[in-house]
Amino acid sequence: MSVTTPSWWQTAVVYQVYIRSFADGNGDGIGDVAGMRARLPYLSQLGVDAIWINPWYPSPMADAGYDVADYRDIEPSYGTLDEAQALIAEAHALGLRVLLDIVPNHTSDEHAWFRAALAGEPGTRQRYHFRTGRGVDGELPPNNWQSVFGGPAWTRIGDAPGSPWYLHLFAPGQPDLNWDNDEVRSEFEDILAFWFDRGVDGFRIDVAHGLVKEAGLPDEEDVLDTAQTLVEHREGHPAWDQDGVHEVYRGWRAVAQRYSPERIFIAEAWVPSNERLARYLRPDELHTAFQFDFLRAPWRAELLRAVVDDAIAGAATVGAPPTWVLSNHDVTRTVTRFSRSQPTHLVGTDWERGRWGDEDPDHILGRKRARAAALLQLALPGTAYVYQGEELALEEIEDLPDEVRQDPTWSQSGFTDVGRDGCRIPLPWNATSAPYGFAPDDGAATWLPQPAHWAEHSVEAQDRDPDSTLNLYRSALRLRHSLWRDAGDVKWLDVGPEVAAFERGGVQCWVNTGETDVRLPEVATVALSSVRAVDRLLPPDAAAWLTFAEPTE
Ligand code: NOJ
Ligand code: CA
Repeated sequence: MSVTTPSWWQTAVVYQVYIRSFADGNGDGIGDVAGMRARLPYLSQLGVDAIWINPWYPSPMADAGYDVADYRDIEPSYGTLDEAQALIAEAHALGLRVLLDIVPNHTSDEHAWFRAALAGEPGTRQRYHFRTGRGVDGELPPNNWQSVFGGPAWTRIGDAPGSPWYLHLFAPGQPDLNWDNDEVRSEFEDILAFWFDRGVDGFRIDVAHGLVKEAGLPDEEDVLDTAQTLVEHREGHPAWDQDGVHEVYRGWRAVAQRYSPERIFIAEAWVPSNERLARYLRPDELHTAFQFDFLRAPWRAELLRAVVDDAIAGAATVGAPPTWVLSNHDVTRTVTRFSRSQPTHLVGTDWERGRWGDEDPDHILGRKRARAAALLQLALPGTAYVYQGEELALEEIEDLPDEVRQDPTWSQSGFTDVGRDGCRIPLPWNATSAPYGFAPDDGAATWLPQPAHWAEHSVEAQDRDPDSTLNLYRSALRLRHSLWRDAGDVKWLDVGPEVAAFERGGVQCWVNTGETDVRLPEVATVALSSVRAVDRLLPPDAAAWLTFAEPTE
């Protein structure tokens, strides 16, 4: 019998570096490549296998770098291409793979292509979606599509009768590319090769389900609110999840295949089901895709079980590993999501804030649950993503002053949706004074303000506390290799409706989402738990990993 060792990306734990908020090397209050380089040893000691860096390309920052002006360079306030190459080499030397974030649905309005299009240079508008408007003089948008950030998905260039409009599913500074145009296709294959040539191991694909639009850009039938437009898992919307997008990824896979060691893709695709998602994961397309149901699931065992089963089954139909994500830079931080009463169904999304309720958050409770959720996530088969600060159990900062908010969601929603700044606060590295080691000098202002109480949640404070969440993650990541990595299928244990407990390869993971203690098997050894004193009883809002001297079957 031949045993195939899984490729690294099939079991990897990937740490998401939100570069603006990770570490600032030069003291301007904005994270950068130098800061990241200095902190690579921290990531390697944490025990992750790879990093995914949010967009680091030159950008006017209409959407925190998801508006790219040049795909082959580095944003000057983050550093230089030489520094980026040094980072890639240093990460590799530490055994960390490097994934970048490619943004193919749209460019910045300051990208050379869009400037040329605005200037009316021949042959350049076909690269985007320019259309004449409706109404007598074309004064109404060409169709009824809404921007994900709020308001119409169209902006008109000029007021003269007949002036065209351009499509932007996100901010006006993010014009959508026209993927029916061959130049667009070849340009992106070339950009992938540019970074693969520089040693990059793969890409997270931004809005992977958005590139190709239904021919003719027809009206959408039911206009829903903006948040639902992106993630409400709707079938048949003419802007999303069109069959034609798969041809694009077949081309990308062919580019990746030219390289050794293997280069990989991870899709950000908010699609109606794991069945639809699996289509992106066919063997000649992408390697992995975030399964976002996990971050939409409330703290309820029956829903967690259902989400896990559905994700595993969906990925298995195409032989892909499931991919677990508890949070990212677009959604409420896990601690806060679990700090309030939990709904009885999967939450649509919280791109529109407040969906998790407006009760006062109980962060102590939220932290317990977030720690337990981490043990669940890291025990499952497949790959897992950890968003920076999750390993510190940071909470969402929900009371930012309005005047510091930067997310375009805030203004485009007419100041009704506070957006995503609260999960993007610069990390606290030490326990002294602001900016808590984020920047080299004490007193330096950061691009979003940090709360003073984060000193106690800083890396330094948690490093010396054996019970800290940081040390829990370190232990979990270390143990994951020996206990879970090659452990096989999930077999649920029938131990009560409010417990999500399963076995994989003779090791068990128990998660108690109920309100009473749960008795653990007598013969088990607690290899790791999210609370300190687990003896035979697992308290509410806790998880444990169990090993057995004798096989359990
Ligand atoms: C998804 C990204 O994660 C988000 O931050 C961004 O605003 C949109 N795509 C648009 O690029
Ligand atoms: Ca900086």
